[in-house]
Amino acid sequence: MRVLITQPIPLAAVTLLKENNIDVDVHDKEVLSYEQLTQKAKDYSGLVTMLSDKIDAKFLENNSHLKVIANYAVGTNNIDVAAATKIGIKVGNTPDVLTNATADLALALLMGVSRNLLPAAKSVKDGKWSKWEPLGFRGVELKGKTLGIFGAGRIGQCFAKKCKTALGMNILYSSRSQKSDFETSYDAQKVSFEKLLEQSDVLSLHCPLTDQTKGLMDVERFQQMKTGSILINTARGELCDQSALFEVLRSNHLYGAGLDVTTPEPLPADSPLLSLENILILPHIGSATFSTREEMAKLAAHNIIAGLNSRQLIAEVVE
Ligand code: DGY
Repeated sequence: MRVLITQPIPLAAVTLLKENNIDVDVHDKEVLSYEQLTQKAKDYSGLVTMLSDKIDAKFLENNSHLKVIANYAVGTNNIDVAAATKIGIKVGNTPDVLTNATADLALALLMGVSRNLLPAAKSVKDGKWSKWEPLGFRGVELKGKTLGIFGAGRIGQCFAKKCKTALGMNILYSSRSQKSDFETSYDAQKVSFEKLLEQSDVLSLHCPLTDQTKGLMDVERFQQMKTGSILINTARGELCDQSALFEVLRSNHLYGAGLDVTTPEPLPADSPLLSLENILILPHIGSATFSTREEMAKLAAHNIIAGLNSRQLIAEVVE
């Protein structure tokens, strides 16, 4: 039984796989192209993939011998899960273990944008800060403001809890299902997507990327957002029409935006978004803490071990 890990991840994964008598190769050279991975995968029974590895129906048809694919991410939009399930290839992901780290990062983005941390720090670093100014770098106070969560799953709820308890924000959410415990514990109120857009001072996206959510935030929806509000996106870049986002930021309809995700990743150097002052863009680091990446590695390895032994995965994605 041989497994390929398509990029280096914490060693815990390799250790666990070896302890279970599985041969492991870690691809530690230049990232494999789609074609290269399609060829290389032929030598393996299992793959640990990254969200940048495209595993579509054609890839799966060409590699129908695979028993298991463990994505090193909670999102599986890079994998055609329905096609994999049809062929009988198990797909795993890494939920739960990254919830807190990702919610922390959403909080960091929110604080960064609302208090202008990037331009303020840059002025110091560039030697441009000359004196304390009563009118300088004023930002948005979050206490008593309304946070709107779109997609109240694990990460969305965790972020809302932090905003409620640490910042004193009020919580609205829009989700397919009612979250009664969440509502009771955090005084959260379920509203329609339209109301969420109209009433939120901060809108934070936490839904998966699907055919239904792709381009969710288009020109019209950005216009529906409150004037002076803030957008936070730690989910997927494709949820937003980036040209529309550029316009609402340039015109100051939105106060600012904090993005951990864009499309494409990375953004090209001439992306108009990069010219804006009121945006904070990070290189998709939501789950990037030492402990979380370690736990993700262990979970991916456990998914592989279960899959190679024809057992249900610890975290199995089915469509
Ligand atoms: C995920 O897990 O889907 C994140 O986007 C990457 O950690």
